[in-house]
Amino acid sequence: MTEKTHKTIEQAEQEGKYIRKVRSFVKREGRLTKGQERALTDHWQDMGLNHADGLIDAKSVFGNDNPVVLEIGFGMGKSLVEMAKAAPELNFIGVEVHKPGVGACISYAVEQEVKNLRVYEHDAIEILADCIPEKVLSTVQLFFPDPWHKKKHHKRRIVSLAFVETIRQKLKLDGVFHMATDWENYAECMLEDMQNSPGYENLSQTNDYVPRPESRPLTKFESRGHRLGHGVWDLQFKRVS
Ligand SMILES: C[S@@+](CC[C@H](N)C(=O)[O-])C[C@H]1O[C@@H](n2cnc3c(N)ncnc32)[C@H](O)[C@@H]1O
Repeated sequence: MTEKTHKTIEQAEQEGKYIRKVRSFVKREGRLTKGQERALTDHWQDMGLNHADGLIDAKSVFGNDNPVVLEIGFGMGKSLVEMAKAAPELNFIGVEVHKPGVGACISYAVEQEVKNLRVYEHDAIEILADCIPEKVLSTVQLFFPDPWHKKKHHKRRIVSLAFVETIRQKLKLDGVFHMATDWENYAECMLEDMQNSPGYENLSQTNDYVPRPESRPLTKFESRGHRLGHGVWDLQFKRVS
């Protein structure tokens, strides 16, 4: 996850290098619906960003200087599109590995005539390493990341000390890292990692969690959690150095 390489694992492997990498996802190939496929074919040129293009210049991507929000693991993208529609004064970049989700997100964004959203279909760890310059993001959103319930799988969780430090470097000063989870043990681990990471200030008045901000629509995963009777924990930390 933290290898200092600007190659993808696939490129490195082709060159005969073996890099052990624990990923936070298992690639599910899932079939694309006709609508998702059409959205990807017709609108990738306008809305898609490619890992292979390397570091981005947000101003030229969006054609303006508005603050940039990065969302990692947007699932089917419904709540991301809703947020982008509700905040035209912001620019949104979504990163998701699940192709049908990326297709669904683009399809919904087109339907909703959302113009301030771009998406990557790629591992967010590599996007952060290779495509996002330092100190450019006003917000990073990580909503309901896969909790990897079993202890032996905790190493797959995307949130780690190294990850939150990478996020800090990508945030502008005063930029906010916002996480939410419905898995209490993951919330506790997130809080511990954030408290042990210099350069962040907790925005919680109680020094732990924050109430769900109005700006975060209910996500698909969250609604499922509610039905199952799960609690939800939101964390917001500001970059202070
Ligand atoms: C549990 S789902 C939550 C989806 C959405 N945020 C929601 O609340 O409905 C987690 C999502 O993160 C994506 N994901 C996991 N690891 C990722 C990574 N390294 N880069 C990009 N997406 C990732 C998964 O494909 C999945 O869609």
